[in-house]
Amino acid sequence: MIAQPSAKYPAFAPIRLKDRTWPDKVIDKAPRWLSSDLRDGNQALIEPMNIEQKLRMFDLLIECGFKEIEVAFPSASDTEFTFVRRLIEENRIPEDVTIQVLTQSREDLIVRTFEALKGCKQAIVHVYNATSPTFRRVVFNKTKEEVIALAEYGVSLLVKEAAKYPETDWTFEYSPEIFSDTEVDFAVEVCEAVMKIANPTPEKPIIFNLPATVEVATPNVYADQIEYFCRNISRRDSVIVSIHTHNDRGCAVAATELALMAGGDRVEGCLFGHGERTGNVDIITVALNMYTQGVDPELNFSQINKVVREVEHCTAIKVHPRHPYAGELVFTAFSGSHQDAIRKGLSDMKNQPDQMWKIPYLPVDPHDLGRSYEAVIRVNSQSGKGGIAYLLEEDHGINMPRRLQIEFSRTVQAEADAKGIEVTSPMIFDLFNREYLTKGNVVIGQPISIVEDENGNTEISAVITTATQQYHAKGHGNGPIAALVNALNETLKIDVDVVSYHEHARSQGSKAEAVAFVEMQVESRTLFGVAIHANTARASIDAVISALNRAIAKGWVEVK
Ligand code: KIV
Ligand code: ZN
Repeated sequence: MIAQPSAKYPAFAPIRLKDRTWPDKVIDKAPRWLSSDLRDGNQALIEPMNIEQKLRMFDLLIECGFKEIEVAFPSASDTEFTFVRRLIEENRIPEDVTIQVLTQSREDLIVRTFEALKGCKQAIVHVYNATSPTFRRVVFNKTKEEVIALAEYGVSLLVKEAAKYPETDWTFEYSPEIFSDTEVDFAVEVCEAVMKIANPTPEKPIIFNLPATVEVATPNVYADQIEYFCRNISRRDSVIVSIHTHNDRGCAVAATELALMAGGDRVEGCLFGHGERTGNVDIITVALNMYTQGVDPELNFSQINKVVREVEHCTAIKVHPRHPYAGELVFTAFSGSHQDAIRKGLSDMKNQPDQMWKIPYLPVDPHDLGRSYEAVIRVNSQSGKGGIAYLLEEDHGINMPRRLQIEFSRTVQAEADAKGIEVTSPMIFDLFNREYLTKGNVVIGQPISIVEDENGNTEISAVITTATQQYHAKGHGNGPIAALVNALNETLKIDVDVVSYHEHARSQGSKAEAVAFVEMQVESRTLFGVAIHANTARASIDAVISALNRAIAKGWVEVK
């Protein structure tokens, strides 16, 4: 990198618009949307879509609710031309959908464009020419007057050709290319000249598309340019201002949103931001940003996984796992504190389902996009106890007491660390099973006799088998657990005690079971035992044995 970038890169001059009003505006309704996936998006693919992919993309766009779709540059190639013909001849365009096509301002191209559209019920023909100073000087060597004349020429050809096909309801669109880099007064001047020829009315407006063909400044500058244009173009009620941003500085979504606040009526873009270089604006993000502010975007992304799949198929480009709203990881929390907050938010929502959506770290309900909560909490070595506890509870009906959550999270983290991988919900259950529910050396046999007198004193007797011996154990206490612990201490000559006991019911399918958790003190340390059994008393007894076996396995206590 050079030491003085200012010697190479001039800063973009701000627009002189002191009384701008857009910063106080909010987006409170959906704009008109135009998908350019089959034109701007397609032209930027390494391998442009074949007909099968184009038809699939077209159907997807209709399913998502687009009413205006730029389908081709029909004079550019036979594939493009044929595709438009197929849409029309095979009656694939729904009544309420208008297709749009692009052409340069050249007679042969415009004539061919109208031929492609023959028989279409309604269509938008989009003509563009370059207006920005760099293009005028470097690319085309044209004066401002020549640029205006080329725009007028193109639009007068649109008017002339359209007259030959009166069965079609025509709309014209004109783009001063690289509007974002064109003197804004000059952009207005060119559009005024075009307007004189097209002669739009409020009933039959012209679309002025104002492209940030290249994003050259911060989004507020584009918003100023749009507000300036909207305030200075005449016959504003006969003009639809279309916003068309590219993402060179990574701000296309922001630029589009500010431009809507500044007066834009319509948004052109592509699904997942496909398009030249860094792409066009991602329409999905703009639409769902509206949705999460309580505004109906009038587009349907309720099956976002299907949209991802279809777009990946048609473009042969993968959607990034962190792509807003749609990426595989965007509803996923790995960090313990995030998981904890989400877990609390979800359970708060469950308890008060009528409240407005407010879940920490989740700006949108995954269900609204056809995603589940399954992937929300995922566990790796960075995760804390909250996520692990959530998955065990949600997927396996095991609601661990807090101190057990801390204890078990060490086992899971050790596994994640050792293997360097994500630990999935089935893996967590497997670890839990291995750690707490698998039989150890000490086994308590059936039958177990538990006799309780009228004062609540309990006597327990059972056969206890260790690795080397079998004992007939007997113990007394103020409940089965205390009686068993006393029996173990006396029979096995150990010194263990119960610190806490929890249990809850768990239903898995048609089975109802009890899950028992016993926290035991062994020497000066504590650890948990867990058991699941159809019989609650048996679950509590097995949980004590589970804790004892774990203590033996750790070498905290020795049993003959
Ligand atoms: O980005 C752009 O300027 C375009 C034009 C053809 C409108 O896509
Ligand atoms: Zn573009």
